[in-house]
Amino acid sequence: AEHDHFAEKLLAWFDAAGRHDLPWLHPRTPYRVWLSEIMLQQTQVKTVMPYFARFLEHFPTLPDLAAASTDQVMAQWAGLGYYARARNLHAAARLCVQQHGGDLPRDFDALVALPGIGRSTAGAILAQAWGDRFAILDGNVKRVLARYHGVAGWPGAPAVEKQLWQLAAQHLPQARMADYTQAQMDFGATLCTRHDPACMLCALQDDCVALREGRVDELPTSKPG
Ligand code: ADE
Ligand code: SF4
Repeated sequence: AEHDHFAEKLLAWFDAAGRHDLPWLHPRTPYRVWLSEIMLQQTQVKTVMPYFARFLEHFPTLPDLAAASTDQVMAQWAGLGYYARARNLHAAARLCVQQHGGDLPRDFDALVALPGIGRSTAGAILAQAWGDRFAILDGNVKRVLARYHGVAGWPGAPAVEKQLWQLAAQHLPQARMADYTQAQMDFGATLCTRHDPACMLCALQDDCVALREGRVDELPTSKPG
């Protein structure tokens, strides 16, 4: 196969234009990565930032979180919404103490077995915390891959989602997995956006099928019905 430029170009874009000041990057520990990923699942970066800082002040380590009461945890989550995330986070912290020595496991199956951690979140944690080669596929990444490869069909459909996972796995770089993972999120959130993506400034424009074929506005395909 021809050399894959996707990761290379995305990383070069990230170095020049990605978000390097996000609080969960400094330092990028497993506990902080996990907490940030759960908070960011349904909430925007700028909303998450003060919650992330306050949460860590109250629960500096995973065992501190596990030892807290439900009321203490919910009090620090109040206002962020989607409260099942906080209940799952707390339950997962307690399981990590009981089953994994108080650390988040560095193992895909063990991570996915924890409440609140799905396939993409497990990959995001392993890649960002340890640099392991796992793909992610959240809404932003689905949009970028559907456009870049010209994949039609609603990304929530199992066959389409399967194809997008395969493409995501195909692009993984050999190094810099943590930066690459953050780069994909930043790229989808700030450049290849849902409306009016910045194709004329895009580092991937030479190889983007949707741009070449004039299909950027119709990809990714909307949910049917
Ligand atoms: N959304 C999910 N994870 C994220 C991250 N690490 N940075 C920015 N947005 C995100
Ligand atoms: Fe997204 Fe446009 Fe770049 Fe294609 S050229 S990846 S549609 S921003």
